[in-house]
Amino acid sequence: MLVRSALLNVMMGAARKAARSLVRDYGELEHLQVSMKGPADFVSSADIRAEKTLRAELKKARPGYGFLLEEGGEIAGDDKSHRWIVDPIDGTTNFLHGIPNFCISIGLERDGELYAGVVYQPLGDEMFHAEKGMGSFLNERRLRVSARRKMEESVFTTGIPFHGRPGHEVFLKELAAVMGHVAGVRRFGSAALDLAYVAAGRCEGYWEAGIKPWDIAAGVVLVREAGGYVTDFDGGSRMLETGELVAANDQMHQPLLKMLKSARG
Ligand code: IPD
Ligand code: CA
Ligand code: CA
Ligand code: CA
Repeated sequence: MLVRSALLNVMMGAARKAARSLVRDYGELEHLQVSMKGPADFVSSADIRAEKTLRAELKKARPGYGFLLEEGGEIAGDDKSHRWIVDPIDGTTNFLHGIPNFCISIGLERDGELYAGVVYQPLGDEMFHAEKGMGSFLNERRLRVSARRKMEESVFTTGIPFHGRPGHEVFLKELAAVMGHVAGVRRFGSAALDLAYVAAGRCEGYWEAGIKPWDIAAGVVLVREAGGYVTDFDGGSRMLETGELVAANDQMHQPLLKMLKSARG
């Protein structure tokens, strides 16, 4: 029987509680209030409701920790060394279109480093969780990144820039560089789940530009604890600052990074 830390229990408990309202809201999409924060950037009453629950649950368990919330922004806490980084629905566009690939993402930063992560896909009841030095798990099962080492057998996921998002031309160059060499490129629509899938060995790698800290904070810990590599496009670790990320198994990270770099010129 897997013994989990109190911290992960707090994070998973919060995710499960928020997921209840998400699943209800997903069943009644026509009743949701939806607005736009910017071009093609939806926010709905379901995002707000879930975020409220997550914030309340996490605050109850760790009153001093600060927050970075997708919808609520930055909230300072008394404890300056801990910060929750929360996305109440990663994959809002999917959610609002009735596409079941969405999740809750909760990351925890400790002393400026990503320390723990929970990504919960409520419809599949898939709870991905990881804490630094303790391994990465899907429900009770320990995860390990895929062992595939050949490009032509590999599947990569990515994010395609959309209306209002810059980088269309650069993305097309990256895609052109990668797609001819691999078994497949997928666009699932949730960065947090893309990272969880790399951790679970379902995909060999994932890359995206223009993403936010709440999209990736939890997933980065999942991939690293499963033995994978996560960097920015320069091979460094400024993913949260640059909004650029390349994640892959130990075999494919360097080749993928190289391809992307030469595509960008
Ligand atoms: C989005 C998803 C998507 C990614 C976008 C994100 P949201 O998050 O992670 O996969 O391509 O860049 O904004 O808005 O659904 O939380
Ligand atoms: Ca959003
Ligand atoms: Ca997101
Ligand atoms: Ca979101």
